[in-house]
Amino acid sequence: MDLIPAPRLVRTAPRGEDFVLNAGTSLDAGPGTEGTARWLRGALGGAFGVDLAPGAGGIVLRVDGGLDAEAYRLDVGPERVEIAGGDAAGVFWGAQTLRQLAGERAFRRAPVGGREARLPAVAIEDAPRFGWRGFMLDVARHFMPKDVVLRYLDLLAAHKLNVLHLHLTDDQGWRIEIKRYPRLTEVGAWRTGTKVGLRESTRFDDRPHGGYYTQDDIREIVAYAAERHIRVVPEIDVPGHSQAAIAAYPELGNTDVIDTTTLPVLTTWGVNPNVLAPTDSTLRFYEGVLEEVLDLFPADVSPFVHIGGDECPKEQWRDSKTAQARIEELGLRDEDELQSWFIGHFDRWLTERGRRLIGWDEILEGGLAPGAAVSSWRGYAGGIAAARAGHDVVMCPEQHVYLDHRQDGGPDEPIPIGWVRSQEDVYRFEPVPAQLAEEGARLTRRVLGAQANLWTEALDTVRAVDYQTFPRLAAFAEVVWSDLPAPALRDHDGFAARMTAHRARLDALGVEYRPPGGPHPWQRRPGVVGRLKEGPPPIV
Ligand code: ACM
Repeated sequence: MDLIPAPRLVRTAPRGEDFVLNAGTSLDAGPGTEGTARWLRGALGGAFGVDLAPGAGGIVLRVDGGLDAEAYRLDVGPERVEIAGGDAAGVFWGAQTLRQLAGERAFRRAPVGGREARLPAVAIEDAPRFGWRGFMLDVARHFMPKDVVLRYLDLLAAHKLNVLHLHLTDDQGWRIEIKRYPRLTEVGAWRTGTKVGLRESTRFDDRPHGGYYTQDDIREIVAYAAERHIRVVPEIDVPGHSQAAIAAYPELGNTDVIDTTTLPVLTTWGVNPNVLAPTDSTLRFYEGVLEEVLDLFPADVSPFVHIGGDECPKEQWRDSKTAQARIEELGLRDEDELQSWFIGHFDRWLTERGRRLIGWDEILEGGLAPGAAVSSWRGYAGGIAAARAGHDVVMCPEQHVYLDHRQDGGPDEPIPIGWVRSQEDVYRFEPVPAQLAEEGARLTRRVLGAQANLWTEALDTVRAVDYQTFPRLAAFAEVVWSDLPAPALRDHDGFAARMTAHRARLDALGVEYRPPGGPHPWQRRPGVVGRLKEGPPPIV
């Protein structure tokens, strides 16, 4: 059956007991399963040209309070397919497995080769390992139109992933409409050109690049995700990575250090010294931004709001009389503590509104705000320190699960970046490092889960995004969903064999993954310089 991610328990039945899905198949949706019924009618209805009309028997969906949240049981017999989920999400994940059982044609939008599918008789019991199974898409460096985001939500759902972290703001673009600050998108949502490639690259494309999501686009994305039991976590990155906002509203920058009125939306890459000024007016401005963000991302969808906090160079704060006066007035030791104060302000502000702050692991420097959770990206160390201090953690170490990093060491990888991280490397990623596991369940529970992150400096189209993301996101999905053994004991050969069937599903979906033998000629970017890290990644 080649299911990905692998279920916990699969019992197969004798041959000849298959279930035949066809125009006569009815759908019996119990209370709480209406969303999954809608989704099944859309997906299987399209693929096989069937109505799945309401009626007894056929496909039966129900919530069974005796199962855990997100867990499901799927029973396929000759007369009936029954999905019982511990909650509505469990039923939905069961439906994703059902689609895989229906074969690769179930991943097309219209019938190919007949209006019937045979599902093998099987009994499956399944439940996820982690509650946070995430993917981060950077829509700031290269804007991804709304349709791309909706398509990725479908792809996440197909892999039982349940968090989409949207990196909405950065130096190179601001991607979310904020009604009270229209210049954030009028000015901040586009740039005049783009550096092509990284570091030593001398190529430049002087074609304007931009785009943003209107508030209704965001509402649609959030609702589309919720229908698929996916939480969308918005990221508004402060106090670094903010030049697009400063270009729109120069008073947000360190005006006593540089002339911020001359700063454009950045057209190049890298860590950038032009950061927010640590002033009351900057805090008030971002409170205004976040008020609209909270309205667009309701707490029942995601209590978490990501406020970035990464890579904030402190030179301008060192040179700024205003920043230094603030340090003195607050009795702080240095600029790191000033950043901590800045993040702490938004931790309190979000907590007062019933929300939770999450930020990159730099928010540990200078002291972690009391309610904050940490995205551990520079390795495991930040996550370990945060868990020990009683904070929740999402593991996303760049050494393992940064999908912008190259998939092979050969010369054909398009704009190669970072360390070589193959499908097998990702398959052997372990979200709970041994140091935490040894300290017991109390600390292990602090690891909410893990996230694969995709930065898009070198990814200017959805085709390039597909190439970097797949097949590795399928391996990541199995790591965070399935009950895999320790990394060295994982059966990557078995996974790779199942990937043959899974690639046919991705083909049917139109996903332009990296082929096992390397890129197609049209997937290469000859001559465009990337930024390599050599050797095996240090495990930190
Ligand atoms: C990051 O990669 N700067 C979070």
